Amino acid sequence: MSHFNKDIMDIPTLKATVLLHGIPISAESAENWERVTDFQARPDDVIIATYPKAGTTWASEIVDTIYCEGNLEKCRRDTIYNRVPFLEFKIPDMPTGVEILEGKPSPRLVKTHLPIQLMPESFWDKKSKVIYIARNAKDVAVSYYFFHKIVKALPDPGPWDSFLDNYMKGYVCYGSWHDHVKGWWEKRYDHNILYLFYEDMKENPKREIRKMLHFLEIDMSEDIVEKIVHHTSFEEMKNNDMANYKTLPKDILDQTTTNFMRKGIAGDWKNHFTVAQNETFDEDYKRQMSDIDLHFRTEI
Ligand code: A3P
Repeated sequence: MSHFNKDIMDIPTLKATVLLHGIPISAESAENWERVTDFQARPDDVIIATYPKAGTTWASEIVDTIYCEGNLEKCRRDTIYNRVPFLEFKIPDMPTGVEILEGKPSPRLVKTHLPIQLMPESFWDKKSKVIYIARNAKDVAVSYYFFHKIVKALPDPGPWDSFLDNYMKGYVCYGSWHDHVKGWWEKRYDHNILYLFYEDMKENPKREIRKMLHFLEIDMSEDIVEKIVHHTSFEEMKNNDMANYKTLPKDILDQTTTNFMRKGIAGDWKNHFTVAQNETFDEDYKRQMSDIDLHFRTEI
């Protein structure tokens, strides 16, 4: 696990975060921490857990469409952030994620980016189901960089080179990608966790949706599964205002320069990493991931 000390908190990418049990978390979310820790789970809650930019919104839309039994009108009843509320969400003048979730009837779908050690205990006590989506570290770095440019709650990422360096060290909101994917992987058999990969979803969405259905103990006809695959494709979601965050005001998410639904592919990192950056990254990656049997594909 990465170790942080107070000195690093001056690093630009950590602006607006505080250390919570050693993990940089948005200072706003941290203010509400007791409510998050004390969150009362229900046995039929389904949690979508990810490191940021791993395909959270994609998995959320898939699971909501499953719960709507493929009824697309029903899926369009509300925005994705209201259909699958963000547990630790807190920004001024808006209801918190916890408040929204507490008011929801069951079964609730819950989004979180928390590392496993910060998850509210109640989820484990109630044996709620968690779908964890992991995406390769290089594409996450690129996606997170562009995301920092459009989300007002995150600091400016600065130049790509320094952002990448900070990301490799875990000096970003939610901390180290390496620790996050490893933490969830190591505990995947201790709880009700389905661990999936973004690259597998890209390669064969139907196969991965079938895995979700099996895990959720839901039977579904081939026709409806096909419909879900189509409805949750990148192109469809990009043009679906209930999924693409276009409904958020610019002072929260400004998509003028980059869309939230940016590219949606595996391997875009090749358009951004220099040869030297790639070598440094690979060397560091080997060091950080040598202690675990967890493998990612950086292209498909
Ligand atoms: P890119 O920035 O690489 O395009 P999250 O929802 O966790 O914030 O992840 C966002 C990333 O998932 C973005 O990646 C976004 O384009 C991608 N994404 C969203 N919906 C997708 C879909 N239906 N298929 C593939 N990728 C998708």
